[in-house]
Amino acid sequence: MTRVLVIGNGAREHAIALALHRSGVEVIAHMDELNPGISEIAAETTIGSILSERKLPKLTGIDYAVIGPEAPLKRGMSDFLGRQGVPCIAPGKAASKIGTSKVFARRMLDDVYPSANPRYAFVRSVRELGAFEKKVVVENIVVKPDGVIGAKGVKAIGHHLNTQAELEKYVADLVGTHGVAVLEEKLQGFEFSIEAIVDGSRFEAMPLVRDYKHVYDDDEGPEMGSMGSYSQETHGLSSVEDDDMQSALAIIKAAIKGIYEHSGSKYKGVLHTEFMKTTEGIKVVEFNARFGDPEAVNVLSILSSSFDEVCQSIIDGKLIAPTYENSATVCIYIVPEGFPGEDVVRDWPIEVPPGITSDVYYGSVIEKEGKMLTTDNRTLCILGKGKTVEEARESAYADAAKIQGRIRYRKDIGKNV
Ligand code: GLY
Repeated sequence: MTRVLVIGNGAREHAIALALHRSGVEVIAHMDELNPGISEIAAETTIGSILSERKLPKLTGIDYAVIGPEAPLKRGMSDFLGRQGVPCIAPGKAASKIGTSKVFARRMLDDVYPSANPRYAFVRSVRELGAFEKKVVVENIVVKPDGVIGAKGVKAIGHHLNTQAELEKYVADLVGTHGVAVLEEKLQGFEFSIEAIVDGSRFEAMPLVRDYKHVYDDDEGPEMGSMGSYSQETHGLSSVEDDDMQSALAIIKAAIKGIYEHSGSKYKGVLHTEFMKTTEGIKVVEFNARFGDPEAVNVLSILSSSFDEVCQSIIDGKLIAPTYENSATVCIYIVPEGFPGEDVVRDWPIEVPPGITSDVYYGSVIEKEGKMLTTDNRTLCILGKGKTVEEARESAYADAAKIQGRIRYRKDIGKNV
């Protein structure tokens, strides 16, 4: 039987492990913290730092690996596994810079598809800030680190940074730790994600997903990774027209070529691109060298092809075009009360009651004395499926309401699509 190592422990990796399990492979799970949903379906589970090669399980008999998060890629985990004879669904350190370095991504895009970049600047001292502030209305600035520190690192004026002094301090902090702060114009419009599977040169776009990043309903509050997402039964999105889609696909194609030209390395794995449909055309908010979270849940839960065959075709450089059910999906992230903040309710017991019919994907939980407890991160992702988004939404929200405790979730995911 094919044995596949899955690295990571969030809802994204739970979706990856489940899709592999459904396609008949034996999942060997390696994770920082126990994900009970993954370990339930895995043949073996090891817990240990996913950044350390020494903590990996025995690689004998592993046919290939799927690396969920980006942080191990930045450390060269995919290259290491490749040298041990374990090919990866994940790019090597050089090509993964598309996701692990904003500086790399913006420069590369300037070469291959400049109109997809927002106005941006790499600032190496607080003094340089003024020049960018003259180009972009100050209320529309986002500040990003040049590294993998997750959504918490992306700070927007008005949400996280409320005064010029706070902006300057954050820029100075980033310059101190990374040598540079990336300043970008905050793009306005309709945001959508595409997960592209890439075999080194060719790619296939998976169904489009609309992600909701803001913490509160009506896109209020700070952006924190994601609070939920939906996909339509058509595999497109009503607000993304044919010419928008053609632009998005052309950008992905150019980026794959650009990654090779700028890094000398071919990209194999999943390329997640967040696009914004703006009045000036389609722009790139961000690239990631991994599946989106929870976008992986939306697209893998309706995959009707064998995910194992899809992965093997990436490794062999003979990409197949996957097929999907004609179902809509809605994902809702359940988070602890107080998320994201200092007073987040950690260590609160959380139970998935037996009456739940939706698939439940574990985000971040810890197990203590036989109980599952919340952490300071997103707890569970509930997936509703249906013939339409409305049907998927009803199913997901009916089940979200059954989760008891000091938790909350957005109530408007997939509303009025
Ligand atoms: N859903 C956004 C991300 O995965 O980065």
